[in-house]
Amino acid sequence: MSGIILRTENLTKSFGGLVAVSNVNLKVAQGTVHAIIGPNGAGKTTLFNLITGVLKPTSGKVYFEDRDITGKPPHYISSLGLTRSFQIYSIFPNLTVLENIRLAVQAKWKNVRWDFIHPTSHYKDVVWEAMRIASITGLYGKTNILASSLTPGDKRKLEIAIALAGNPKLIALDEPTAGVSLEEVAPIVRLIKKLRDEMKKTVVVIEHKIDVVLEVADKVSVMNQGSILAEGSPKEIVENREVQKIYLGE
Ligand SMILES: Nc1ncnc2c1ncn2[C@@H]1O[C@H](COP(=O)(O)OP(=O)(O)O)[C@@H](O)[C@H]1O
Ligand SMILES: [Mg+2]
Repeated sequence: MSGIILRTENLTKSFGGLVAVSNVNLKVAQGTVHAIIGPNGAGKTTLFNLITGVLKPTSGKVYFEDRDITGKPPHYISSLGLTRSFQIYSIFPNLTVLENIRLAVQAKWKNVRWDFIHPTSHYKDVVWEAMRIASITGLYGKTNILASSLTPGDKRKLEIAIALAGNPKLIALDEPTAGVSLEEVAPIVRLIKKLRDEMKKTVVVIEHKIDVVLEVADKVSVMNQGSILAEGSPKEIVENREVQKIYLGE
C-alpha cells in the first residue's frame, strides 16, 4: 500500500439536475487528520455519504485500503474499518453513557462465539471494554449519566466513543464541534489529536471552525460547489486567494 488509506476517483453524485459532488479525487493518508472544509451546500456531507455507503455515487469510485468499496452498504464498509459518527442517530438518549457504549461494543462482538470460549466473563469483558473507551474519550466520570442529560460537547464525545467501539482504522466526523460551546471545543480537539497520535487512527473531519482546522489538520481539502477547489497544509489553505474569496464572499 502507498500510505493512502482512502481514495476516491472522479467521484460524482447528482440529485436530479444538481451535481452535489463533482469529479472528486480525494486522497487521505494513513494516520493523518484530513479536514474537509467549504461553504454550506458545498457537498461535504454528500461526499461523506458516498464514502460510507449511505449514498451510491452516480459515477466514480471509492477505494479503502486499495479495496473497491464503491456502492457497498454501510455495515460492510464499517466492518472493513471505515466508520463514521452518525450524530443523533447512534445515541440512545434514555440509556446511560456506559449502556450506549456497551451496546456498540456488543454489536461489534456479536459474531464472536463467547458462549463457547468463556461463558461467564462475556458480560464483564464487554463492560471492561466500554469503560476503557469511556476513559479514552473523556467520559469516564460520566458513565452513569443518561445520554440525554449530557452537554453538547459530551454528546459529541459519546458519538466518537460509539464509533471507536467498532475499533475502526478510519473515523469520519461530520462537524464534531457543531453546536458545542466554546469551552467544550478544546477537549474535542484534544480527543481528535489523541485518535491520531495515540490510537493511530486516520480521521477525516468536516469542520467549519477554521481555528480548529488550523490546530488539528495535517491536510485540508476545500470544497466549493461539489468540487475540490484547493488542497494543502492548513497554512497554505488560509493563505490561498481562491479560498479567501469563497469565505469572504459568504
Ligand atoms: N438527498 C438529497 N437530495 C437532493 N439534494 C441534496 C440531497 N443531499 C444534499 N443535497 C444537495 O446537495 C448539495 C450539497 O449538500 P451537502 O452535501 O449537504 O453540503 P454541505 O455538507 O457541504 O453543506 C446541496 O445543494 C444540497 O441541497
Ligand atoms: Mg454538511
